[in-house]
Amino acid sequence: MCGIIGINSNKPVATTIINSLKKLEYRGYDSAGIATLYNGLINEVKSEGRVENLEKNSIAQNMEGTIGIGHVRWATHGLPNSINAHPHSSQNVSVVHNGIIENSTILKKFLIGKGHVFKSQTDTEVIAHLITENLKTENIINSIKKTLKSLHGSFALGIVFKDHPDFIVGARRGSPLAVGYGPNENYLGSDSYALKSMTNKITYLNDGEFCVIKRNNVDFFSEEGTRINKKVLVLSSTEEKYDKGDYKHFMAKEIEEQPITISNGINEYIDMSNRDINIYNFPWKKKEISSITLIGCGTAYHSCLMAKYWFEKLTNLDVNIDIASEFRYRKNRFKQDNLYIFVSQSGETADTYAALDLCKNNNVKTCAVVNVVESSIARDSNFVLPIHCGVEIGVASTKAFLGQILILYILALKFALWRKEIEKKDFDKKLSELKTLPKLLEKTLLVDNKIQTIADTFNEAKGSMFLGRGFSYPIALEGALKLKELSYIHAEGYPAGEMKHGPLALIEEGMPVVVLAPRDSYYKKTISNMQEVIARGAKVLLITNKSKDEVISENIWKKIEVESTNEDLLPFLLTIPLQKLAYYSALKKGYDIDKPRNLAKSVTVE
Ligand code: AGP
Repeated sequence: MCGIIGINSNKPVATTIINSLKKLEYRGYDSAGIATLYNGLINEVKSEGRVENLEKNSIAQNMEGTIGIGHVRWATHGLPNSINAHPHSSQNVSVVHNGIIENSTILKKFLIGKGHVFKSQTDTEVIAHLITENLKTENIINSIKKTLKSLHGSFALGIVFKDHPDFIVGARRGSPLAVGYGPNENYLGSDSYALKSMTNKITYLNDGEFCVIKRNNVDFFSEEGTRINKKVLVLSSTEEKYDKGDYKHFMAKEIEEQPITISNGINEYIDMSNRDINIYNFPWKKKEISSITLIGCGTAYHSCLMAKYWFEKLTNLDVNIDIASEFRYRKNRFKQDNLYIFVSQSGETADTYAALDLCKNNNVKTCAVVNVVESSIARDSNFVLPIHCGVEIGVASTKAFLGQILILYILALKFALWRKEIEKKDFDKKLSELKTLPKLLEKTLLVDNKIQTIADTFNEAKGSMFLGRGFSYPIALEGALKLKELSYIHAEGYPAGEMKHGPLALIEEGMPVVVLAPRDSYYKKTISNMQEVIARGAKVLLITNKSKDEVISENIWKKIEVESTNEDLLPFLLTIPLQKLAYYSALKKGYDIDKPRNLAKSVTVE
């Protein structure tokens, strides 16, 4: 999604801004732009498509100026073209913006009435003109304060002023924003990752705050315009190196590195010598929690659903799950003895953050399961459980999904032990089995060749279905999501038992249907459902686990067998062929695998 960079330096900034924008490419975007101040002018260059296009632009190559702002845009208002790309400038102000201004139409009407002329279809352009309008009567700080007050919606802003070439203004409401500190230069970024190549000294703005970034110092202000002091955090490393290596796509690499990332997660949390799970500084006593609500979006929501099955099996806790965009607008009954768990790879998803914010305002217990530990969701939760899987670049989440479900499984086990709902010997056994998971994943990853040919059939079909029961149902949803997001093939995930209640009508001769039927407690029931779809002409790809017993069913089109382990852990293994199916299907179609159309890695607008 949209990303912001700002640099105030004593040397030319255009190249560094463009290079930093490349760090934000993983978020997903459709156009890019940059503005610098030089010789009393705002110089602006924008281009449709990749940052590469901006970089090739000869004006951008020769851009002067030691102060500037840059942006990658993911369209919300107006087409994804160079006119709508940011920055947006009035005669004296240039703005980059993440978020959505909900009252932009009313503001635009007001500003047109005042004689302002608009060039783009965006909501952002009104911000530049509104500041210009307010500057007619107010000083800089007051004009910013007044402008921010008039804006409804969410924003992270970077602003430069033609007549003040010595500072950048940053402002935040809803969308994250960070300030970075360097030698004789300071920075603004929509996340610390974008700034990591330049600094590891960071200050995060809170909602409502704004700042004035000069070359040698930064002043912070509250919503009311009062000066405030903010902490400088020193992040762990200056930059985590992450490239594709020998892989064609980040997604391929991220799928293959899952045995390592899962092993990292296990090593972080499992203490085999004491046969225990290390969750240090958990802030609540076990008696204080009698139920759990898990909240997330997309793949992270599927992790929540997966966790529900494990928590309910292993503990007596009541477990609810929720899609963040629904939770945030429902009338919730907040309970003091409920633990609210927010699951998010990026830790910046707008809906998940808003759900967390709601919980915070109602003073309930909050816990984040995140990959990015410096993220807003991590920072603003009472307790954080990192998933330790390293940077994930592919928009389609793979290793983060397995990382999330790993930590949630570990948490369910820990709760079961705390609450004495699992026998110690069973707990020990489950830990030992968990330890073998990386090896089992490694072996399951060898299913490659088979899936490459299977992908062709999915590519030729009008649509497909993914069925599973119990522990396999969340994986069926996740498999369908992966296929639709990467290959743009219609794919629906369903609980296998629901087919007769409507979706069976969709089955027609030759329709590819993935049936997840591992040998678990649901096996026989799922096989019956599989036979019902085969009888109606479906081409069934059965994914099960290795067993000495043959699957008793005729006319299965294709079968993939993953490794065998206890039923709790089979969902991890079943996920692998589904990730590969989506990957090869998109590869064969020649689609942009790491950046699927219309999607963004970090969904920072609702
Ligand atoms: C997964 O492949 C998706 N791209 C998407 O559903 C994602 O999981 C969702 O947007 C939530 O993101 P988060 O984990 O960063 O909060």
